[in-house]
Amino acid sequence: MSESTGGYFYDRIAEYVAVLLPCAWVGLRPALVAALAGLDATARPVVDVGAGTGDGVVVLADALPEVEIIAVEPHAALRTALLTRISSTSALSERVTVLADDVLSARLPDRIAGLTAMNVIGHLAPGERRALWALLAAKLIPGGRAVLNLYPPHLPEAVPDAPMGAAVIGRRRYSGSAAAEPAGPDSVTWHMTYRVEEEGEVVAEFTASDHWYVLTPAELATEVAEHGLRVRAGDAAQGLHIITR
Ligand SMILES: C[S@@+](CC[C@H](N)C(=O)[O-])C[C@H]1O[C@@H](n2cnc3c(N)ncnc32)[C@H](O)[C@@H]1O
Repeated sequence: MSESTGGYFYDRIAEYVAVLLPCAWVGLRPALVAALAGLDATARPVVDVGAGTGDGVVVLADALPEVEIIAVEPHAALRTALLTRISSTSALSERVTVLADDVLSARLPDRIAGLTAMNVIGHLAPGERRALWALLAAKLIPGGRAVLNLYPPHLPEAVPDAPMGAAVIGRRRYSGSAAAEPAGPDSVTWHMTYRVEEEGEVVAEFTASDHWYVLTPAELATEVAEHGLRVRAGDAAQGLHIITR
């Protein structure tokens, strides 16, 4: 995984992703479950793009019993956490395959019933995004669907620093906040600040920055339409979008 695809960023923040991203899944979980309702994925696998430490894989596995899951995670530290989670639960290790590639070079099955890309799509440059829509158009079975989230800003605009969540692990409290600034015509730079406190004393604090491509829901609809796909809104509060043939 190269620096341009977030490798260095995730080298620095992997443990904070493990501890703090579950805060986001409190809201994402029911939204994703609703977006997957009625999906018949018994015949073909579902791909989780950028699976991270596996919060979304667990939601998929719970929402779609019996379904085979292909979890694509290019970053070694996050993938280690993912594999630890999967290998410790036989119900997951029996049906989740982990691929150590980015989604465009991963060896994916010819046909898939679904694809999820949660908190991921801004990592893909516009050309890579279009390649993902082409991949979907080629592989998604009739009746299949892809689910992704877009979160603000949808345009290259500044976002003031705001808390991302907090978690207490033993004696230590982990917290994070995020701010964005414009970085070009189609992107922002996110500045993520992480803090670890013990008995009120800050024992670690740093800011890591990452490039993130932005797009509006209307741009998403136009892009996927170029590949014969359609998009409809899922849970608006979670920024969910559901792509079908
Ligand atoms: C913010 S994390 C989200 C993790 C997980 N989807 C979740 O919501 O819990 C973004 C993930 O996307 C992965 N990623 C970045 N570029 C990618 C690419 N081109 N293909 C697949 N995954 C990618 C990163 O390694 C990271 O795990």
